[in-house]
Amino acid sequence: MTKLILILAAHILILAAVASASDFARTMNEKHLDISTKEKLTHLRLYWHDSLYGRHPSSVTIQKPVFNSSLFGMITMMDDALTLDESRNSTVVGKAQGIYAGAAQGEIGFLMVMNFAFTTGKYNGSTIAILGQNRVMLKVREMPVVGGSGMFRFARGYVEARTKLFDLKSGDATVEYNCHVLHY
Ligand SMILES: *[C@@H]1O[C@H](CO)[C@@H](O)[C@H](O)[C@H]1NC(C)=O
Ligand SMILES: *[C@@H]1O[C@H](CO)[C@@H](O)[C@H](O)[C@H]1NC(C)=O
Ligand SMILES: *[C@@H]1O[C@H](CO)[C@@H](O)[C@H](O)[C@H]1NC(C)=O
Repeated sequence: MTKLILILAAHILILAAVASASDFARTMNEKHLDISTKEKLTHLRLYWHDSLYGRHPSSVTIQKPVFNSSLFGMITMMDDALTLDESRNSTVVGKAQGIYAGAAQGEIGFLMVMNFAFTTGKYNGSTIAILGQNRVMLKVREMPVVGGSGMFRFARGYVEARTKLFDLKSGDATVEYNCHVLHY
């Protein structure tokens, strides 16, 4: 009889351990996260300025390409200004921080992994995360917005990138980003 009680007690202990192991996740009410309101669609038009070898470089190549023709294998880290207008000297509203890497062998096609980190106005401190394929020779490149923080929590959407300026000698590039972001 005592043996049976001991076995039962052991089973109860094991069940309790299993229950507490799954305690890290629970269903919760959206109201507690202030996301019970309707999802909003925000359009942002920004100009992204990259400079590899200019007087004030904003990006650095951390791995040279394996194939020079397509830049395959190249890895570049960027801390690029995002401005309101096409001019590099226009108002900076944030930074594009992340990596672009040569991911295609037959053409120039970058893997873009970057956060648009805003530093002004109501979006100060908020970010959107972009992860996508950037075939730079195309007129328009679409890349997904995969998430965000702050004002852009639960973000999803897409951006359209259009090159406005590219200087082969200095490696300077200006790209217009039209971002369509759904968020709360
Ligand atoms: C790529 O170009 C650089 C500079 O012109 C050269 O030093 C390097 O050897 C080239 N690499 C390949 C793999 O062709
Ligand atoms: C930006 O400002 C600098 C210094 O004030 C000037 O030399 C440069 O020409 C300006 N660039 C543009 C694109 O207006
Ligand atoms: C943005 O927020 C930081 C603190 O998070 C603050 O120091 C800075 O002054 C703010 N910038 C603007 C333009 O509001």
